[in-house]
Amino acid sequence: MASAPGDDEEGPTGHGARHVALIMDGNGRWAKSRGLPRTLGHRAGVTALKRTVEAAPRLGVRWLTVFGFSTENWRRPASEVSELMGLLKSYVKSDLARLHREGVRVRILGRRTELPDDIMDVIAEAERLTQNNDRFFLQVAFNYGGQSDIADAARRLAKEVSQGLIDPDQITEAMFAARLSTSGAPYPDLIVRTSGEKRISNFLLWEAAYAELVFQDVLWPDYGEAPLRAALEEFQRRQRRFGGVGVDDVLAAG
Ligand code: IPE
Ligand code: IPE
Ligand code: MG
Repeated sequence: MASAPGDDEEGPTGHGARHVALIMDGNGRWAKSRGLPRTLGHRAGVTALKRTVEAAPRLGVRWLTVFGFSTENWRRPASEVSELMGLLKSYVKSDLARLHREGVRVRILGRRTELPDDIMDVIAEAERLTQNNDRFFLQVAFNYGGQSDIADAARRLAKEVSQGLIDPDQITEAMFAARLSTSGAPYPDLIVRTSGEKRISNFLLWEAAYAELVFQDVLWPDYGEAPLRAALEEFQRRQRRFGGVGVDDVLAAG
């Protein structure tokens, strides 16, 4: 069954989206439309991320997961890749103390061993410093791919089977989920993609099972409180059924 830790808390069955995941897309097009280099689009994207992280708790969101760099983004020119690495590092360095003060727990999702050492150090420090915080949860997917995360979970399970720790016949969805890099987090209620593209691009494939999807035309550097509020309002108009029947149908059948 598609459930996740914490499902009994207010959220999936309530009205608000407790966990919002964002595919932050459109930095390049934002820059291009202004005659600027793509790097400046990415920098403006970090400012938008800061605005959004600040706005989210005011709008009732408790978990925010953002897609910062996909396992496919290595296909970009080396200079752009290194700009994106540098931006993660400077974002964490400049905002970590404030995030910690505000009770935010930071976690980075994805294959970190493929990242440069200095980035790995910054990530480890952010996670260590904020590990006991629980007012707000910020997950940054970086060198993340839904398929590689699933393959990694399968590898972990296979190793435990080969060590005799697990009986393969006993493997459940929950055991699989516990080995994903998102383990322990509730599944996203709402996945938003900006920039008008309507695809998932390898984000949270397992976790997206029953997420509501909202596609917004706004380019990521223009994102912030107003577009996030609009996405949450759209979410509230949806009726989630999780494979069952709607509340009205239950009453009608009654
Ligand atoms: C999103 O903006 C940032 C990353 C994918 C890292 P893009 O760089 O993809 O912007 P577009 O899609 O080219 O406009
Ligand atoms: C998805 O955006 C990845 C991130 C937002 C980090 P892309 O711009 O890489 O996706 P595609 O290539 O348009 O599918
Ligand atoms: Mg893009």
